[in-house]
Amino acid sequence: MTDIQSPVLVDFDNGIAFVTLNRPEKRNAMNPALNARMLQVLDELEGDERCGVLVLRGAGQSWSAGMDLKEYFRDNDDKPRDATLKARRQSGNWWGRLMYFEKPTIAMVNGWCFGGAFTPLVSCDLAIAAEEANFGLSEINWGILPGGNVTRAVAEVMRHRDALYYIMTGELFGGRKAAEMGLVNEAVPLAELESRVRKICASLLEKNPVTLKAAKDTYKRVRNLPWDLADDYIYAKLEQMLFLDKTKGRDEGLKQFLDDKTYQPGLGAYKR
Ligand code: ACO
Repeated sequence: MTDIQSPVLVDFDNGIAFVTLNRPEKRNAMNPALNARMLQVLDELEGDERCGVLVLRGAGQSWSAGMDLKEYFRDNDDKPRDATLKARRQSGNWWGRLMYFEKPTIAMVNGWCFGGAFTPLVSCDLAIAAEEANFGLSEINWGILPGGNVTRAVAEVMRHRDALYYIMTGELFGGRKAAEMGLVNEAVPLAELESRVRKICASLLEKNPVTLKAAKDTYKRVRNLPWDLADDYIYAKLEQMLFLDKTKGRDEGLKQFLDDKTYQPGLGAYKR
């Protein structure tokens, strides 16, 4: 956590890959170097067996203060337009990868979370915040609207009135309010944040990873499909999942319940 050379740190612990945004001196603002590195990190972790769940956290007292207002915005203002386009691609690419990442993802929001940071926040499958964390759609405070798909991300998880209120006022809100509005799953005291996230990781690590990937992607994709297409997509995904799962988890789950009587699916996962 103290390596100030690398903008992103990765630590493995019992199936969890803790990915740390590591610019604490700049409150983990996302600059081009961090964005480029995050894309590499996601590539590296995709096939890494040490990563069963990815937890995205921030070094120090911030999760992320959003885009780096100097390096991402002002430094590009006097350059040809392709510099801005490249910067947008760098951030957009890793957020997009995160949205459909191969492994389950959890945002562990330990502190400040502003503006551009809402997109990776929403891209993570789950989000657990410290009650002490503070969130803000602060774009309005410095004269822009929430770009970088922040507006879309907010529309995905927050209620209409709440989203507009915070987009238009830029007011801060805390972890509990974020949970109440659906921006995060839950808020816990900062002192309990890591243990709560580890508990969720333990539950996810018991599950069949092929099924998890299919289930989360299916949910994210079908939300915007009409019913008939959704129904067809879901079955296509289900059958793809059965094909990809070389462990034949579905058959094993049925066997352990119906024949072996060693577990009950209503109460927990089959033994892998
Ligand atoms: N971009 C660039 N630098 C930043 C950012 C940022 N988003 N956030 C913080 N920093 C830098 C500061 O400029 C300062 O640098 P310096 O030490 O070289 O002067 C350093 O980080 C520490 O910042 P402070 O403001 O001194 O830290 P403090 O803990 O008092 O406040 C806070 C933290 C509230 C997060 C404050 O830094 C802040 O308001 N940051 C901007 C938040 C924001 O609005 N982000 C943009 C959202 S919009 C978007 O992402 C598109």
